[in-house]
Formats: sequence, C-alpha cells, structure tokens
Amino acid sequence: PAPLRLGIAGLGTVGCGVLTLLERNGPLIAARAGRPLQVTSVSARSRRKKRAADPGPATWHSDPVALARDPEVDVVVELMGGSDGPARALCEAALRAGKPVVTANKALLAERGTALARLSARYGAPLAYEAAVAGGIPIIKALREGLAGNRIRRLYGILNGTCNYILTTMEATGRDFDDVLAEAQRLGYAEADPSFDVDGIDAAHKLAILAALAYGAPVDFASAYVEGIRAVTAADIAMAAELGFRIKLLGLAQLEDGALLQRVHPCLVPRTTPIAHVDGVYNAVVTEGDAVGRTLLEGRGAGAEPTASAVMADIIDIAAGRIAPPLGLPATALAKHRACHMRDH
Ligand code: HSE
Repeated sequence: PAPLRLGIAGLGTVGCGVLTLLERNGPLIAARAGRPLQVTSVSARSRRKKRAADPGPATWHSDPVALARDPEVDVVVELMGGSDGPARALCEAALRAGKPVVTANKALLAERGTALARLSARYGAPLAYEAAVAGGIPIIKALREGLAGNRIRRLYGILNGTCNYILTTMEATGRDFDDVLAEAQRLGYAEADPSFDVDGIDAAHKLAILAALAYGAPVDFASAYVEGIRAVTAADIAMAAELGFRIKLLGLAQLEDGALLQRVHPCLVPRTTPIAHVDGVYNAVVTEGDAVGRTLLEGRGAGAEPTASAVMADIIDIAAGRIAPPLGLPATALAKHRACHMRDH
C-alpha cells in the first residue's frame, strides 16, 4: 500500500520524539498501521536549530498553513502548542481541506475544542488528540472505547507532570521550588510558559477535555475552578506527611445536580491510596464507572517519547481507518461525521 504522508508542524520535544519513534519502530508501526508512514513535510520556527532528531529530506514550510495545504501531506500532526495563532490556523486549514489532524495541543482543544469538532464533523476530517491529555497514558481511548458502556460517576487524577515532579522532588530532597521547576524545564516536561503548569491551567485544560469526553458535553474550560501549587511550601508538605497525607495537584470532574463540576487544586491525599504513590513526571487518572467500578491508569504524563507514543497511536488509527467521533458534539453531528467519513474513504 501507498505510504501515509505526514506533515509535522512543531519540532520541539514532542516533534523530535515522534521522529525518533518512527525511526526506531518504523517497520513495527507500518505493520500495525497497514501501510508505511513517511514524513514528507515539516514546519518549525527555526530551520538551523540543533535538534534531537532529523526530519531527513522532508519539505520545509516556514508557514504552518502552507504545510496543511501541501498536496504531499495526507495527515497533519500539530505539535506547536498555543491555543491561538499558528496552531489554530494550521488545524483549521487542515480540517477545511478535509485532512485528518493529530494534535497534542490541550490548550487549543480546551479553548476551542467544540468549534474544531464542528469543523471536523463538517468536513469529515478526523481530529485526534490522545497526546493532549496525560502524555503517554491512553486515557482518551479508555474513556471513549473501553469504558463506553459506563455512566462515569466521577473522574480525577494527576494531570500535570511538572507539578507532580516538583511536589514529589521537593518532598524527597528538600530542594526548593524554583530549582526543581528549572530541572523540569530542562527535561522537556514544562510548558513554554511554565506558569501554565504551576498555576494549574494545563491540568484544567486536560480536565476539560476528559470531562467533555466522559459526559458527552461541550468542552467547558472557562467554568473550571483552578488553583495551582505556588502557595504550597516545604513546611506544608512535611506537615501533611506527618499526618499521613501527601499533597498532590488533582483535577476532578463530576456531575452535581446535573451540572458539570470541574476543579483543579492541591489536595491532601491519604498515603494509603494508590494515587498518593504516583511520583515524578508520572500522571494517573482514576475513573469511577457505574458498571466497572474504579479503574486507575498510570504512566508518564510528559516528555518526548511518552507523548510521541500517544501521537503515534492516533496516526496508526488514522492509517488503519479507525476513526473516532469528534469531541463534545451532540449525537446528530456524530452521525454526520461518520457518514461523511465513510463516503470519503
Ligand atoms: N507541561 C505538561 C506537564 C506537559 O507537565 O504535564 C504534558 O502535557
């Protein structure tokens, strides 16, 4: 079969992780996708920058929208980040051109997910986002597929690797906040603007996506209560430990009297619970379904290859023709999306 041609926009930590993974596991990925994958185009701010991976002979576009319109690109992989500007323009252009979009961009989905889902439905172009939530943990697939028969009573979890890394390293080593944050930045965990991490915004972006999926509601980041970890001191952590708790930044979503409640804030978690022992860059998501009861998924929530793992899962799904419905749209739009996609393929 003909290769599936990828256009990758953004060659930072995650973009390079995707190139590395393709290089290392190419034949395995091709076998699972049912066809080879080829990176035909890339776009990044600087062409000369020294990078962890090399895009090879791919065409360079300085304008990401040109990458979306490149006739040699079948699938657009958006790894630039940012809820507006170039990332948004790129995704909109790709969907309007009927091209599938794979994105790791939680800010974009949290702020504009429902509008993008409408475009996806209208043009029959899939919008896949496994990498946008909890890095390498396959929580999108779990909610959409494995738990699809359940009413979700509530879901909660550790959704920001940088904060979890800071809190657990502060506790284990007594190092101070700024020092550990700088290390998380060096390791490629933190957002371009790390205040998104430490002020809880990144976790709330991810929570809004999970909540929309779990409750079949439009993405509603604006209504989330958000508090980060800046006010947590070493003394708080030590006091919590003395009382048998650990401090974790948790995101929680549940229905209360029919309304969707979303909140992100530091929590005292009893040491006797599994989630208290999720350390470092690891994330964890607990889902309580009426049929299954409680499930817990744990894994690396940030970093080059864990996030690339999730990006690749979406690319393989698209290559193999497995198309998921758009996020947070009513059932009528979903039916149209499926009909449109079946017609085109
Ligand atoms: N800055 C994010 C985190 C990256 O630390 O979890 C993954 O979304």
